[in-house]
Amino acid sequence: MHGSGDDAAHAGGDAAPPPPAAEATPQAAASPGEHIVADEGAQLDFSRDMSYGDYLQLDRLLDAQAPLSPAHDELLFIVQHQTSELWMKLMLHELSAAVRAVAADELPAAFKMLARVSRIMEQLVHAWDVLATMTPPEYSAIRPFLSRSSGFQSWQYRCIEFTLGNKNAAMLKPHAHRADLLARVDAAWRAPSLYDEALRLLARRGLPVPPDKLARDWTQAYTADPGVEAAWLAVYQAPQAHWDLYQLGEELTDLEDAFRLWRFRHVTTVERVIGFKRGTGGTSGVGYLRRMLDVVLFPEIWSLRTQL
Ligand code: HEM
Repeated sequence: MHGSGDDAAHAGGDAAPPPPAAEATPQAAASPGEHIVADEGAQLDFSRDMSYGDYLQLDRLLDAQAPLSPAHDELLFIVQHQTSELWMKLMLHELSAAVRAVAADELPAAFKMLARVSRIMEQLVHAWDVLATMTPPEYSAIRPFLSRSSGFQSWQYRCIEFTLGNKNAAMLKPHAHRADLLARVDAAWRAPSLYDEALRLLARRGLPVPPDKLARDWTQAYTADPGVEAAWLAVYQAPQAHWDLYQLGEELTDLEDAFRLWRFRHVTTVERVIGFKRGTGGTSGVGYLRRMLDVVLFPEIWSLRTQL
């Protein structure tokens, strides 16, 4: 956390050298801890400078947890969802830039961003360990207060899914009452996905991608094609000749691998917390989430492995 604090100070453009320790702590430091702070010259007066909390808008951030029930565990439930949404915000930021980079043939930049998205996803996989400490009775105490709200209505999650190619027009509907959010989800739905752009790149590099995969109705879910598998196979059979495309293939694999783990941990956590009860969003719950485990984002990236 100190690193972030330092960044905050730098971001404020405060190039002034730290004040001498004696000035920062006029009273003699009594304890060893106070000595350390004094010796290090840490800035302690923020009456005129931007502080860590100012930069990060912590007042707003930490004021945004409003449990509706008297249950002790609701704060965990809220924090887990809010932190996931924050990470999703960063994922979307990175993913949309990565799609643009692939479209612009800027692969090193795309690799950097895709690697970051995979690491974020992996971190969210581990985050389920915290939520799994919530027992069924603890969740049941909160459940009536959630009404019909559910992660199913996460517009950021839907944008991530659409950007990764899991297009589904029905998923726009929960956002119809919010024109601002609908516009964002709709834009992700209409745009070529990361995989669509990857295939267009393969074609620009002379690989034989079927033309109907290069210009199509992007709102439709992608369907696997033997011609696309053949194009990826050519890359994987001669990595040295197509090194960056080979790397792109592996970055996509990392990403889908991590996404699959997230989905899996979600469904197992849900099963351990609510069993086979229906979801607050109205689906069958575990049954629905298990069906989502079958979604394949980049099909030929997986199927080609059988041919190698
Ligand atoms: C005890 C905790 C949780 C339970 C019981 C739970 C339960 C469910 C259920 C049953 C669904 C299916 C839709 C429905 O009918 O509601 C769902 C969907 C979803 N949940 Fe959770 N969930 C939990 C935690 C989380 C967390 C921490 C996140 C992180 C943001 C999350 C994100 C999502 C998303 C994005 C969907 C939509 C998945 C899709 O459509 O493929 N859930 N959840």
